[in-house]
Amino acid sequence: MARFNKSTSLTIVLLLLTLFLIHKRLELRQDIKRYAEFTKNRNINLKRYPPDGEKFITYLPHSGLHNQRVALINSVILAKALNRTLIMPELNLGTGTYWRPSTYLPYRLDECGDFHAALRRKTEDGKPWWSPDCFDYRNYLPMAVDSIFDLTAVHQMGVKTIQRRDMQLDYFERYWSVPLDDRNTSLVYQVKDNIRYSYQIVDDPSIDKSTKFPERYTLQQLAQQQYPFMMFNSLFGSDRLALRSSQWIQTRDHLRKEMGVRQPWVVNRSRDIITRLGGPGSYISVHIRMGDGIFKEVMEETMERVRQKLNQLEQQQQEEDMIGDDDENDASSAATIAYIQSLQEQPEQRLAACLRLQQHPHPRRLALIYMTTDASSPRSILPHLFDEFVCLFTLGDFKDIVDDTLALQPALMDHRHQSHHNQEGEEQSIINASLPPPIAKGKIFIPLIDAEVAAQGSLFVPTARSTFSAYIGFRNKRFHHMKNSTTNIVD
Ligand SMILES: *[C@@H]1O[C@H](CO)[C@@H](O)[C@H](O)[C@H]1NC(C)=O
Ligand SMILES: *[C@@H]1O[C@H](CO)[C@@H](O)[C@H](O)[C@H]1NC(C)=O
Ligand SMILES: *[C@@H]1O[C@H](CO)[C@@H](O)[C@H](O)[C@H]1NC(C)=O
Ligand SMILES: *[C@@H]1O[C@H](CO)[C@@H](O)[C@H](O)[C@H]1NC(C)=O
Ligand SMILES: *[C@@H]1O[C@H](CO)[C@@H](O)[C@H](O)[C@H]1NC(C)=O
Repeated sequence: MARFNKSTSLTIVLLLLTLFLIHKRLELRQDIKRYAEFTKNRNINLKRYPPDGEKFITYLPHSGLHNQRVALINSVILAKALNRTLIMPELNLGTGTYWRPSTYLPYRLDECGDFHAALRRKTEDGKPWWSPDCFDYRNYLPMAVDSIFDLTAVHQMGVKTIQRRDMQLDYFERYWSVPLDDRNTSLVYQVKDNIRYSYQIVDDPSIDKSTKFPERYTLQQLAQQQYPFMMFNSLFGSDRLALRSSQWIQTRDHLRKEMGVRQPWVVNRSRDIITRLGGPGSYISVHIRMGDGIFKEVMEETMERVRQKLNQLEQQQQEEDMIGDDDENDASSAATIAYIQSLQEQPEQRLAACLRLQQHPHPRRLALIYMTTDASSPRSILPHLFDEFVCLFTLGDFKDIVDDTLALQPALMDHRHQSHHNQEGEEQSIINASLPPPIAKGKIFIPLIDAEVAAQGSLFVPTARSTFSAYIGFRNKRFHHMKNSTTNIVD
């Protein structure tokens, strides 16, 4: 039997590896050539989407809206770093869906994402059929990303975006002529996951290996992949991208602050509420998440931070204003507090009374506070907060705006009205006018309005570990930044 010494075997291994890589490279070239031939022979002309040069990146959506935004921001950074056009999946504004591994998520989105298609399926006795796998998609409400979020900062960075039109499995075949069979393996670089936090992407190979993410990719490794399409499964998680270079850290921070909600109704109505609250920066804001058990414990912590902040403000005020006789003040405050408490059922009068008080030094119990919360009736669930802080307001106190919003019927992405590319590569709509477009209920805008109002507080107290709070926090930072820069201009 032949025996090799160490260096001979190493040489052989390297030689085999080199041959393998050359083979792979040639195979990839051939496949791209075949792909070009393939698309040429299709009646769909892909002139507008040439495979030469332009490369694409995409991922799959899951979880709640603000978690989807975290994934979107991660994907923008990857698109920028890898010089790829971002194909954005639709945003689900309904109930968050679960993460699933690469071997399930694309199939769940295909089967359950299009509510109308799913409803058209019938059981043998003619009843609408709904796959048990789709239980978390019962309130799946897809919308185009740029109908909700402002992508100006993304485009200013030079990242090109395209809205994915549907989540069907054959989307890449229909729109991009990527065959739905083994021929696609060298056109598509797929980054798969089998656990929720499978892979982390780092901008610097010397970053310590994460205990949370068993796999890792460096930006450099990903940049070497020449495949026309790069497809990730999940890109969710604020720590999905571990960044060390100041360029990428700043880019991420910029996107987190700038990518706000641009939905016109939401912007207009939140501005209205902010005005009624005395204008931007005239109130402090807090997010109390009630949703599940864990957060209930966090609530007291959050409110304790609110009290501390208010104490600080009160102290500052006292130093500045040299309040006179304490006893006299206490007596008049007690009367004021009692008066405002008596207005519990008259939010407009209560707000007017509270606004008058804000002009003058006042104890913390009279501070104007806007609370955003997912509690369905905050006043009955958190009565002690309203007793303690008598000028505490929630979205429910602006009933006219809530009612108008609930009455809306915003249009969803229309999976049935697919458009196709004609010979000239123009998008051609084949809308069947007799089919009304799918709509959602205005309810989906309620948390968005809530967040916009909270974002313009003079200070914001978040709920720890909530992505909704994180969103408001970034927007609040931006608000203060903008306020400071306008003040400077005026000066
Ligand atoms: C980025 O990709 C475009 C094609 O989409 C190409 O024209 C351009 O040269 C690329 N830029 C760099 C720096 O590689
Ligand atoms: C590529 O083909 C496989 C079947 O071989 C299919 O499961 C997969 O979804 C295809 N990928 C794309 C992006 O169409
Ligand atoms: C906001 O909505 C009100 C009421 O519909 C409307 O009168 C106003 O013009 C809107 N403002 C903006 C800036 O769109
Ligand atoms: C449009 O949809 C209606 C209702 O589903 C159907 O009856 C009609 O044939 C469709 N028209 C076209 C041109 O597809
Ligand atoms: C804005 O200015 C205030 C005081 O002038 C300062 O405390 C705050 O840190 C500044 N905020 C930002 C985001 O620059």
